[in-house]
Amino acid sequence: MEPDSPDESFEKRPWIGRTLRYFRPFIPHVVLAGVLLAASSTLALVGPLVLQHAIDVDVAARDVNALAHTAEFYVVVLVLLVLVTLAQRALLNKVGFAAMANLRSSLLESIVHKPVTTFDEQPAGKLMTRVMSDVDALRQFMTETFLVLVGDVILFFAMAAVMIRMDLQLALVALGLLPLLGIGFTIFQRTAGPRFAKTRAKNAELVGFLAEHLRAMPVLQALDRTAWARERCRRLGQERYDSDRAAERVVISYFNSITLTEAVGTALILVVGGARCAHGTLTVGTLVLFFEYVRRYYEPVHRLSDQLNVLEKARAAAVRIYALLDVAPEPDVLLPAAAEPARGPLGEIRFEDVSFAYRGEDWVLRGVSFTVPPGARYALVGPTGHGKSTILSLLLRFHVAQKGRVLVDGEDVRTIPLENLRSRFGLVLQDVRLFPGSLKENVLLGEGLDERALKALETIGALDLALRLPDGLATQLGDGGDGLSFGERQLVACARALAREPRILLLDEATSSVDPATEARLHAALEEVMRTRTSLTIAHRLATVRSADRILYVERGEIREEGSRLELLALDGRYAALERLQTFEHAPLPEASVVHG
Ligand SMILES: Nc1ncnc2c1ncn2[C@@H]1O[C@H](COP(=O)(O)OP(=O)(O)O)[C@@H](O)[C@H]1O
Ligand SMILES: [Mg+2]
Repeated sequence: MEPDSPDESFEKRPWIGRTLRYFRPFIPHVVLAGVLLAASSTLALVGPLVLQHAIDVDVAARDVNALAHTAEFYVVVLVLLVLVTLAQRALLNKVGFAAMANLRSSLLESIVHKPVTTFDEQPAGKLMTRVMSDVDALRQFMTETFLVLVGDVILFFAMAAVMIRMDLQLALVALGLLPLLGIGFTIFQRTAGPRFAKTRAKNAELVGFLAEHLRAMPVLQALDRTAWARERCRRLGQERYDSDRAAERVVISYFNSITLTEAVGTALILVVGGARCAHGTLTVGTLVLFFEYVRRYYEPVHRLSDQLNVLEKARAAAVRIYALLDVAPEPDVLLPAAAEPARGPLGEIRFEDVSFAYRGEDWVLRGVSFTVPPGARYALVGPTGHGKSTILSLLLRFHVAQKGRVLVDGEDVRTIPLENLRSRFGLVLQDVRLFPGSLKENVLLGEGLDERALKALETIGALDLALRLPDGLATQLGDGGDGLSFGERQLVACARALAREPRILLLDEATSSVDPATEARLHAALEEVMRTRTSLTIAHRLATVRSADRILYVERGEIREEGSRLELLALDGRYAALERLQTFEHAPLPEASVVHG
């Protein structure tokens, strides 16, 4: 993420305009809040005028009754001021929450349609910050700072106008220190801005560190490295503390210099105004009025020290939110479908001279061509990091090949709407994601009835899983699938893939982290399933590969060998070497692995 550069914060603020757009549906409310704002400003203006009247008229006339009435009026004005301010705050809050809820939904809505690559670049933690705390920072600024600041500015000009009308000379004295405040604020903003930014960066670093290490706590404990982690945490904590203090020092200096300026300003008014009172050219009431107004206009200036931080936070949040919103959604189709969709055999996969690079000229796949006929079982084998998974992601259009064509059911994947394309596949990965929810929800992902889930579980021979769990299909699987073994999670993932009744099954090392017994069981079940479907399986264990109709050996992004197992053994090439290696490795163990599994 781009670093915070506070220099531009007060110059270009298109993000405020963009954020205000989310307030558009609430224009009547905003207008009402504006009216209330005007009312509260007026009341704040009137209060000191009433005091002036009490002193100059009632006290001067020694009329106690009139004074009591004026005092009542003064109380009424203040109570009204409190009520109006309350109503205005409540209204703004309501509007702010509603507008930002809209922003949050459009953010979520847009995240759902981002290309898969977005999630490589922005891990879940960051996206979560975007949706939750960044939106909150923006809301806080818009409702608590921005509109209140507008009110302060209006009130300031109104008070200045009244003071000038009352007494030009004293008004000049009262307003004369303004340039000083302006200079003070500029210095404050220049020094505090970068320090606030640093504090935020240090804070993010600490939070990230904590998140990663708390997740890995069992590993740290097992390896006895908690002291090492604690030391690093302490250092990050110290840095954060130091930067916090550095920022706070600036805030305190600013705050105190404002207090000092206010004292000097008040003293000046006292000297000039007091002397004029003594000479009878100014009433005491007017002097009190000036004191009151000057006190009021220093209030928001004091508040600015907090508000700058809120502003900077909101700006950083907005920049990140809008950058995410502006990532183009994944296009549904990349090429127009042929006039007459050349639908080939259903369930066929075909790669035609496909080359692909994630970046620039780093070709991960080079001239890959193969065809999996409908209903066939193909296996991909080869060393890690040589492009096997990439072949699957091209099929699902997580990425698009730069050269060549990828066809599914005889159609170019670029011409098939995404949802339609992906509904044709059942995908099982090594890493199983279980969602918080029931077993049924995890199998069906919100689509279909109990029967469908049971049928899928039965197909892979895992019905006993549902029967064994305390609440059957309704058993809640915790975060991350607590209470299920790794193998059982794999079963759930397979059932999930099958419940969609896909024509094509893609397995990417789906069973490599399961114990051999479960793997054998899963494979026996999947054999059954694959009989009626096209399948492309990536596997390391040869037990899985052997039953395939054909084997593709992938190395450095190329298909080096292709054929049935017997053909490849006869070829005596890489595959044969791989099989020799594994048979050798496992030679003394076959009995044992079955017994212990
Ligand atoms: N999202 C990605 N961005 C950049 N490079 C990637 C990405 N995914 C994989 N790669 C690279 O592409 C190569 C092939 O990866 P992959 O297809 O996952 O290999 P395999 O599945 O055969 O182990 C590897 O060198 C890997 O580092
Ligand atoms: Mg892989």
